Amino acid sequence: MAPSNKCTLAIALLVAFAVVAPLLPSSAAARDGGAAKKAAPAPAPSASGDAPLHPMGLIDDIIGLIPDLPLPRILPCPPVFPIKIPFIPCHNVTPPPPPVTECRPGLAKYMPPCARFLTSDDSSVPSPPSKCCHVIKPFFEDGSTSPLCLCHVVNGDAGNLLPAPVNHTRATSLLEQCGYGFTSDNVTDICANRDFIIPPMDAVPSPPQRRH
Ligand SMILES: *[C@@H]1O[C@H](CO)[C@@H](O)[C@H](O)[C@H]1NC(C)=O
Ligand SMILES: *[C@@H]1O[C@H](CO)[C@@H](O)[C@H](O)[C@H]1NC(C)=O
Repeated sequence: MAPSNKCTLAIALLVAFAVVAPLLPSSAAARDGGAAKKAAPAPAPSASGDAPLHPMGLIDDIIGLIPDLPLPRILPCPPVFPIKIPFIPCHNVTPPPPPVTECRPGLAKYMPPCARFLTSDDSSVPSPPSKCCHVIKPFFEDGSTSPLCLCHVVNGDAGNLLPAPVNHTRATSLLEQCGYGFTSDNVTDICANRDFIIPPMDAVPSPPQRRH
């Protein structure tokens, strides 16, 4: 056996014994001192005939008792780690969602309940139905689309996604009428602001490789 392996084994045995020893009855611990080192990591013999001790189960129990420390959580947590690592603060990393590359799927998915309100030119649908207001929320929460995609509806360039041309007044007032806190002017400003990059309706194909 290579020296480093011997060293690792010795450390493992010492750790296993250190964990098990305090939990054994003191006489058994004293008497078993040598034996436990030889026997570990097999279940330590029980002097009183109790169920055998399982070192791994004990370690899990002990780790379960260690409170989370109020330390800054500076390290990303390992993604799939079988046990909690005591004393090592970590934070769960949520990777940022990929950038939205196209609006058509999101609009096609969520806009239908708004279609009648958006394209109506009479007073039969004077305000957005509640179903329509509910589908605004996913544009802010569903990472696969973006609230900026609604600008395609406002700007009337959502193509044939809606069954008739969109009433611009209704499109800009939709968020205000649904209680989202953006006035018609806000919507018009945002959709015209070139600082906001509105994802295209359809993903732009990646440019072909240049030939030399
Ligand atoms: C658009 O909707 C507004 C508000 O409901 C309405 O007053 C207006 O007449 C509509 N415009 C057209 C062109 O249908
Ligand atoms: C909406 O417009 C008002 C008035 O121009 C402005 O004060 C406010 O910050 C805007 N809100 C948003 C969310 O852009």
